[in-house]
Amino acid sequence: MNIADRLGRPDLRTLQAYALPSASTTHVRLHANENPWRAVGDDTMAGLAQYPEPTPATVGHCLATLYNVPTTQLLATRGADEGIDLLTRGFLRAGVDAALVCPPTFGMYAIATRIQGADLIEVPLRPAPHFDLDAQAVITALQGAPVKLVFLCSPGNPTGTTLAPAAIEAVLHATRERTLVVIDEAYVEFSQQSSWIERLHEFPHLVVLRTLSKAYSLAGARVGSVIADPSIIALLSKLLPPYSMSTGTIEATLRALAPAALPIATARIERLIGERNRLAVRLRTHPAVLAVSPSSSNFLFVTVTDPVAFLTRANAAGFLLRDCTRDPRTPLGIRISVSAPDINDRLLEALSTP
Ligand SMILES: Cc1ncc(COP(=O)(O)O)c(C=O)c1O
Repeated sequence: MNIADRLGRPDLRTLQAYALPSASTTHVRLHANENPWRAVGDDTMAGLAQYPEPTPATVGHCLATLYNVPTTQLLATRGADEGIDLLTRGFLRAGVDAALVCPPTFGMYAIATRIQGADLIEVPLRPAPHFDLDAQAVITALQGAPVKLVFLCSPGNPTGTTLAPAAIEAVLHATRERTLVVIDEAYVEFSQQSSWIERLHEFPHLVVLRTLSKAYSLAGARVGSVIADPSIIALLSKLLPPYSMSTGTIEATLRALAPAALPIATARIERLIGERNRLAVRLRTHPAVLAVSPSSSNFLFVTVTDPVAFLTRANAAGFLLRDCTRDPRTPLGIRISVSAPDINDRLLEALSTP
């Protein structure tokens, strides 16, 4: 039995995906009730009057090449957010199954789990500034609990830190055959760690989430990837609405991932890493900053003496920072996105002005 049949919702096994009309480009399309004329201002290549490719093979192929996986192991989604949503819908039964998260972490894992009506088990990361994964505590919490999904975020949001590979590996070994381990790598391009995609062949219950929102400057286009065993991809693809990826998004993705564009993205990633390290050094000497967590992402997580004063000062100078103080585990925490050099300079200037 494959991993999706073993762990997926049993009622979805026989679900047939919606039968889409043919996407043939050689025939006149009189089968989809579309308008024959372009909308005013439509500057896309394919034209918005027609439905987009149902499961955009071109985008799937491009993303599979980018992440070096077979196309059967990748599902293109509307951002990594949709990947999280599909996983909870495909694997969690309301009132029966549970997901495990390690806070402080990305809030959508808990929200998607709750929307699905499933239970949430929390096993906190170790304290700031390193926020390590407590693998033993995760393994203990899994015993006897109906956990179908473990969400791990590395590099983490809002922490910015990388979870130790040995700790993740311990969780992967303890969960074989029983639970999917989802590693959210939204920020991995900014880290020195290699992607867990390379270990997929060892662990069929491993799922990796990636996104073009951060390293590839496409947050507004909404493009993510679920990378996993082909049986998991087949199950999740049945849950996607028809034509979920818009024509504008398909075209933006193909442009951003064209061979000539990739070196530009790589250079920008390097630039942001340099800026991140420069900002971290400067912030560590700031009198109001208690600690700057070691970041492997495009943001910094700082703990400060007086978060309200810190945020107010930044705000007055025109900057929005992410207030993380509502989470009881990070009562003094603020997350700061790393930006272009001139903006980072202006922020440092604003924070140094009494
Ligand atoms: C850890 C993490 N995962 C997923 C997402 C969502 O990414 P996307 O824009 O691809 O939906 C974010 C967004 O900030 C994130 O921080």
